[in-house]
Amino acid sequence: MGADGQHTVICEDTPGFVEAGCGLIASALLRAIRTRGSATVALAGGSTPIPVYESLAGLALPWDRVELFWGDERAVPHDHEHSNAGAAHLALLDPAGVPAERIHPMPGDADDLAEAAAAYERTIREIVGEDPGRGVPRLDLVILGMGSDGHTASLLPGSDALGVTDRLVVATRGGEPVDRRLTLTYPAINAARTIIVMARGAAKGELMRSIRRGEGEKHSLPVAGVRPAGGRMLWLLDAEAASAR
Ligand code: 6PG
Repeated sequence: MGADGQHTVICEDTPGFVEAGCGLIASALLRAIRTRGSATVALAGGSTPIPVYESLAGLALPWDRVELFWGDERAVPHDHEHSNAGAAHLALLDPAGVPAERIHPMPGDADDLAEAAAAYERTIREIVGEDPGRGVPRLDLVILGMGSDGHTASLLPGSDALGVTDRLVVATRGGEPVDRRLTLTYPAINAARTIIVMARGAAKGELMRSIRRGEGEKHSLPVAGVRPAGGRMLWLLDAEAASAR
């Protein structure tokens, strides 16, 4: 672990990536349960975490003690093929038998996404509670992916959402394959006790090089704005994502 709370795990192949991802997620959840009696996590969308979620479903974790949120959601119903909640249900929540009352999907199917964002923030505040002294809830674990344009969650390059400091969740636009989205903001993400960013493939290696060299600023490379305030940040990379120098 570096002095800045950052640590990188590099995996040679898919089984190694999946095993390491499972191990990091499970240990963050179990550590929170041991310390505070329960764990809170925001799941990532996108394709990278899916095999990790599938494998995690096979571990005997105390899911009745884990409150599940999302880092972002597309504006589609939960049974839509592009729903992040729907994908997590198929890969993890249904096979693991996570109790329904522990699952808190972002309301991506709402008519008024701004109101839905405010409602989701209230849900997070109510369930996670405010950290004394910070004024924001601290999720135990935020899992993130990284788009090939440098976005993370649905914090997209150039978006107004990047400058938000007074809300934990906002409605935003941009990205494929669905343009209207809900996303956690930097204040919500950076307050987390542990952040895991998962990335695979050569295109992401180029982004990692910019991040390592400090070339990216958050406006053009939103993942560069993920900097835990007092927490730890783990990069889970495959060999390609780690290889650019
Ligand atoms: C989303 C995501 C997004 C994702 C990245 C990486 O809903 O679009 O949450 O931030 O994590 O785009 O996606 P891949 O893992 O598919 O490359």
